[in-house]
Amino acid sequence: MGRVAGKVAIVTGGGSGIGRACAETLAREGAKVVVTDIATDDGQATVDAIRSNGGTADFLTQDVASEPRWEEVIAETRATYGGLHVLVNNAGIGIGGPVWEFSLEDWKKQTAVNLDGVFLGTKHAIPAMRDSGGGSIIIMSSLAGMQGSPGLAGYCATKGGVRLFAKACAVECARAGFKVRVNSVHPGIIETPIWTKLGGNAFGSNRPNAIDPTVLAQASAPLGHSGKPQDIANGVLFLASDESDYMTGGELVIDGGIFAG
Ligand SMILES: NC(=O)c1ccc[n+]([C@@H]2O[C@H](COP(=O)([O-])OP(=O)(O)OC[C@H]3O[C@@H](n4cnc5c(N)ncnc54)[C@H](O)[C@@H]3O)[C@@H](O)[C@H]2O)c1
Repeated sequence: MGRVAGKVAIVTGGGSGIGRACAETLAREGAKVVVTDIATDDGQATVDAIRSNGGTADFLTQDVASEPRWEEVIAETRATYGGLHVLVNNAGIGIGGPVWEFSLEDWKKQTAVNLDGVFLGTKHAIPAMRDSGGGSIIIMSSLAGMQGSPGLAGYCATKGGVRLFAKACAVECARAGFKVRVNSVHPGIIETPIWTKLGGNAFGSNRPNAIDPTVLAQASAPLGHSGKPQDIANGVLFLASDESDYMTGGELVIDGGIFAG
C-alpha cells in the first residue's frame, strides 16, 4: 500500500520541474493523478512516464488562469475517478526585473497564473473535496513568499499572497467542518527550467535570460547546494497523505537552510 493509495490528485504545471516530480511521486505512492499543464506535450510526457511505471494518470490541457477550464478539470476528474482528495496548486511563472522598469502587463500576466490560478483551483476544489469526504490542498509558494528577492518584486507579491491565502482558506474550511486542509510549500533554489525563463534583471544578475541555480545556491544556501524537484515532491507527498492529518494553515520550508539565516 502506498502512502496516498486510493486518493485522487490533481497536479497543475505537472509537465515540468517540481510539478512533474510531484505527479510521479504521488502516482508511485498509489494516487490516481490528473496532470494538467498549459504545455500539452510536456504534460503528456509526465503521464506517459507514470504509466510506464505502472501508475495511473491522465493529462488535461489547462490554463490555470481560466475559471471555466477549472470547472471542467474538476468535473472531468470527478467523473473519471469518482472524487477529489488532493490538489497541488503548483503551476507558476517567474518574471524578473526591477520594479521601476516592470510593466503592468507583466505584473498582470504573472499575477494571473501565480495568484488567480491558485485562487480558482482552491475555490473549485473545496466543494469537490468536501463531497469526497475531505482532502488536502497544497499551494506552491516560495522562499520568495517569505522574504524579499531583489529583481523579483512582482513574483514575491504573488508568492506572499498565496502564503496568507492558504492560511485563511485553511481556517475557513476547518471552521466549516469540511475536513479540507490547506498548507503552503516554500521551495528555496531548486534545479528546474524556471530559472532559464526568468528574464529581466532578477537578483540583480544583469544576465538577461538565465540564472544558474546551482551557482546561486552554492553562494546562498547553508547546505551549500541547490535542491532537486524530488526534495519538494517529498514534502508534498507528506502534505497529501494522512500522515499530515493534524496540519492545516502551515508552511513547509524546503530550502537548504536559506531562510534560517
Ligand atoms: N524552481 C525553483 O527554484 C522554485 C522555487 C520556489 C518556488 N517555485 C515554484 O514552484 C512551482 C513550479 O516551478 P518549477 O520550478 O517546477 O518551474 P517549471 O517552469 O519547470 O514548471 C512550471 C510549469 O507550469 C506550467 N505553467 C506555466 N503557466 C501555466 C498556466 N497558465 N497554466 C498551467 N500551467 C502553466 C509550465 O508549462 C511548466 O510546465 C512554481 O509555482 C514556482 O514558482 C520554484
